[in-house]
Amino acid sequence: MEAYLADWAHLILRWLHLVAGAAWIGASFYFNWLNNQVRPPEDGRTDVEGEVWSVHGGAFYQAVKHGYTLQQLPKTLHWFYWEAYTTWLSGIGLLAVVYWFDARARMVGTLGAAPAVAVGIGALLAGWVVYDQLCKSALARHPRAFGLTLYTLLVGAAYGLFRALPPGAAYIHTGALIGTIMAANVFFVIIPSQRTMVGAAERGEPPDLAPGKAGGLRSLHNNYFTLPVLFIMVSNHFPFTFGSDHGWLALAAIGAVGVVIRHVFNLKGKGLPYTPWIAAAVVGGLVIIAAMAPKKEVAGPSVAWAEVAPIVTARCTPCHATTPTLAGWVAPPKGFVLESEVQASVAAAKIRTQVETQVMPLGNLTQMTTEERAKVVAWAAEASRR
Ligand code: HEC
Repeated sequence: MEAYLADWAHLILRWLHLVAGAAWIGASFYFNWLNNQVRPPEDGRTDVEGEVWSVHGGAFYQAVKHGYTLQQLPKTLHWFYWEAYTTWLSGIGLLAVVYWFDARARMVGTLGAAPAVAVGIGALLAGWVVYDQLCKSALARHPRAFGLTLYTLLVGAAYGLFRALPPGAAYIHTGALIGTIMAANVFFVIIPSQRTMVGAAERGEPPDLAPGKAGGLRSLHNNYFTLPVLFIMVSNHFPFTFGSDHGWLALAAIGAVGVVIRHVFNLKGKGLPYTPWIAAAVVGGLVIIAAMAPKKEVAGPSVAWAEVAPIVTARCTPCHATTPTLAGWVAPPKGFVLESEVQASVAAAKIRTQVETQVMPLGNLTQMTTEERAKVVAWAAEASRR
């Protein structure tokens, strides 16, 4: 019953996280787009910064940008923050349910369960503190040096997490670290800066430009974080990314391509030349795909299923069975059952990736040995070519 309810908690949190995340990023992309697209009004009025006309869902829409020039506040002013907070809260809930509460299976790499969870939580907090200080330092006035420093620090964090946690957990915690920075940017800087702006407008005072500028900078950072974070979240389904020999490097490289792609859209929106950046993203992507290709097979002695079957029974079917026998498992994970040669053969390629990258057996709870692993990989490599 407990495991069943945990599954529901997992499902509901994941669903909410996805919906809130879509709303947050949707709103953020839309406002970023608006900001890039505003042009001087067609009717020549000069009391606004610009306007955008669009057509959508059977109507025409006109958005007008006022910047700091607003003379009088409207009665109703819409704010955008619940999307961000809900995304973060549901994400942390998800991290807790899937990783922290199941630390023995999901978090144990070089550290025990409790220290591993402490490292994970500590990374989220430290990430924000370091980033926030960096934004307040003199470096923030030099966007290129700042960007490079931030990128290097994040890659360093990913590397550190890879040393401490299993690869899947290291990836997700790097993503959560960046996600935490994004949500904290909204909570601690962007929304307060907007409150200051609105307060000044209410009192009819000229606005203090500094908080608005700080908020704008954080919004810009969030904008560039979006694609890398989304990549990390979906990478969960692709063990060849985090489970590769240098998972942290793959994260750094693919994340960088994400940043470049975002940059292309930002330049395009502003009407600036962006072709070289498309070329950079494509070349970067191709280099990554080539560099991560599986190594050439070394033809070893053929391994028969009869040799592999007892290993699978001992190390995999405690979880991957119609009725799992390992305590805490009520159903085969992902509905994936490994009780016969046929079931194993059709999934040979998947088995190879999961076992070779040491993502399976989960947390090595069934204590698979190195020789057993080599045997299963050799069998699966052969079976997947048949
Ligand atoms: C402790 C339980 C456990 C053990 C033992 C285990 N697995 Fe898994 N396996 C899981 C879980 C949980 C998932 C789902 C992972 C996720 O959420 O992405 C999974 C997913 C998989 C998948 C991906 C299925 C899909 O459709 O995406 C494969 C393949 C796999 N396991 C193979 C193996 C093999 C081979 C072994 C034995 C060497 C093994 N597993 C041992 C728990 C286990």
